[in-house]
Amino acid sequence: MAQRVQGTEDLFGGYMRAWQHMQDVARDLFGAYGFDMVETPAIEQVDTFVHGIGESTDVVRKEMFRVVSGALFENLLGQGSEAGLKPKQRLAMRPEGTAGVVRAAVENNMVPQGAASAKLWYAEAMFRGERPQKGRLRQFHQVGVEWLGAADPAADAECIVMLMEYYKRLGFDSSPLKLSINSMGDAVCRPAYRERVRQFILDHADEMCEDCLERAEINPLRSFDCKNDHCREVMRDAPLAKDNLCDDCAEHYAQVKRYLDAAGVSYVEDPTLVRGLDYYTRTVFEVEAVDGGVGAIGGGGRYDGLMELEGGKPTPGIGFAVGFERIALALAAQGGSLETPQPGCVYVAGTSADEREAVFSATLALRQAGVRTEADYQGRSLKSQFKQADKLGARVCVVIGPDEVAANAVTLRDMETHEQTQVPAAELVSAVTERLAK
Ligand code: HAM
Repeated sequence: MAQRVQGTEDLFGGYMRAWQHMQDVARDLFGAYGFDMVETPAIEQVDTFVHGIGESTDVVRKEMFRVVSGALFENLLGQGSEAGLKPKQRLAMRPEGTAGVVRAAVENNMVPQGAASAKLWYAEAMFRGERPQKGRLRQFHQVGVEWLGAADPAADAECIVMLMEYYKRLGFDSSPLKLSINSMGDAVCRPAYRERVRQFILDHADEMCEDCLERAEINPLRSFDCKNDHCREVMRDAPLAKDNLCDDCAEHYAQVKRYLDAAGVSYVEDPTLVRGLDYYTRTVFEVEAVDGGVGAIGGGGRYDGLMELEGGKPTPGIGFAVGFERIALALAAQGGSLETPQPGCVYVAGTSADEREAVFSATLALRQAGVRTEADYQGRSLKSQFKQADKLGARVCVVIGPDEVAANAVTLRDMETHEQTQVPAAELVSAVTERLAK
């Protein structure tokens, strides 16, 4: 039997409805904040991710699924390396949404100079070649937003307020949610800060892992979230970003906190929060469900340099993404669920094969009127059809037998009371919709 790839899931039934529910809530809430939906391709040039996410990140170095067409693959096997590939031939499945959306914004000139900002949201599958475990998949789903063209700290605060409201509307109790925030500085103050952290790691070289020593040279801030516990302990004494911000970054951070306080959003400041993607500047944030046991259920931040890295004009940006699968797990741990009930339907039952055409017409008429309608396609007995109707949650059954056909009528059976009434066939739709409205 063919099997799905490890770390991937099939979405169907209640689980699929849960994913759709997350999108419906997002459409409503993010729409009220002025965001429109966007969809970018699942494959992009590798450079789109390398420029934005950063060459030295785990996501780019270890987790990106590379895509090669069949013919190219043969070639690569022959040559033993991708050195001969043009940038346009070096493709990857998107590990996250931000880089692709920003690439699309640059390519489609979505934020022309002097124009209003672009506010975009998406609900898409993402792909990361991580070791699969609970809440960590190789194909997972994110709902995310990207707000391009707003530098104001109010935009940072609005994003965070909207994110916390999103969790609430999905059914989370706010008390077990922990929102952590930090500021990572910008192009003015970060280089000097990075250098201080690099020096700190080198001063503690004998206590740090090999990866951290390598990070010291390419991206020392990554050591704050090294998977090695001891490294993280050593890093507790490292210089903190918040003590190394330039005046503008410090004021921006202070203003974001003032807005969050005014909006009544509780947060903790975590000066070691650096996030796993290199494009962040200034505000970063992450949300965890305490006792959820699945890690972060969402995160984001400001990325004022990313548009330029993707070849556009300098344009500030901020956004976040939340993971569907982790949210489903964290909600379940709270005793909640994202699942919405299966929608009810009307069932059209025929007493024998002779009524098949009348059943067919009645079914189509109801569907054309927008009523979710089911019928029998297996030649089942009337009793089995009623059982099936119950299973599907039908509130009304339309029964058609020889008497009904002769009288050009249908019988409506209330599936709860089993009460039956005959109505003229011409009144089928109005009689059914009237009963459903009760
Ligand atoms: P991220 O923190 O890498 O940020 O991912 C956001 C969320 O996606 C995580 O908090 C988690 O819920 C979920 N997630 C990440 N990796 C996995 C995985 N392997 N399996 C299941 N769920 C996962 C970003 O992706 C940024 N693009 C967010 C952003 C948008 N920043 C600015 N704009």
